[in-house]
Amino acid sequence: MMKLAVFASGSGSNFQALALAAKEERLQAEIALLVCDNSEAYAVKRAEQLNIPVFSFRAREYDNKAAFENEIVEKLKEAGVDLIVLAGYMRLIGPTLLNAFEKQIINIHPSLLPAFPGKNAIGQAWEKGVKITGVTVHFVDEGMDTGPIIAQEAVAVKKTDSLQSLTLAIQAAEHRVYPETIQLLIEKRTLEGSPYNDHQASIN
Ligand code: GAR
Repeated sequence: MMKLAVFASGSGSNFQALALAAKEERLQAEIALLVCDNSEAYAVKRAEQLNIPVFSFRAREYDNKAAFENEIVEKLKEAGVDLIVLAGYMRLIGPTLLNAFEKQIINIHPSLLPAFPGKNAIGQAWEKGVKITGVTVHFVDEGMDTGPIIAQEAVAVKKTDSLQSLTLAIQAAEHRVYPETIQLLIEKRTLEGSPYNDHQASIN
């Protein structure tokens, strides 16, 4: 079975949705490790409750990004991880991880990329008054929320929406789309007919 590592920095609701999908066998993968850059994050508590191993670290205790990413790569190899799934991991991935897991790192972002990359994407879209926003799953490269797009789902902004209700709608879409997309990747069905089909081929 494919082994995933989920990377999170905060609440970990996407991590939990993935763990639930794996338990219910909608996602035929094992979450072998949670990687978290904040040992106090709620994501870590969720992992403990779910009996999923955690590697947490503090970036400022290392000399540089390469130093902590080298340690992460070691943990990922030990755990036999095939695919890295970023879920609210609020750091740019550096060359150490990108080279060790080439084309095997994906991310979810709460907007229709390339619109509203970076932090607070839902708030940015809300402030602009967009009528349609959504979620994007994409391969990770050295940029911030860039990289080839794998899947998108639109979420309409309703006249009755508040920022809070829009946030809930987008989170619900994320929790559905991320496990579905990873399952399609595992089945190698996501990128047929896409210019990024060569990325697909590299997923184990
Ligand atoms: C999610 O909405 C995710 O798309 C977003 O952080 C949130 C994490 O929530 N990621 C980004 O904005 C990446 N640029 P969670 O910790 O509850 O899964």
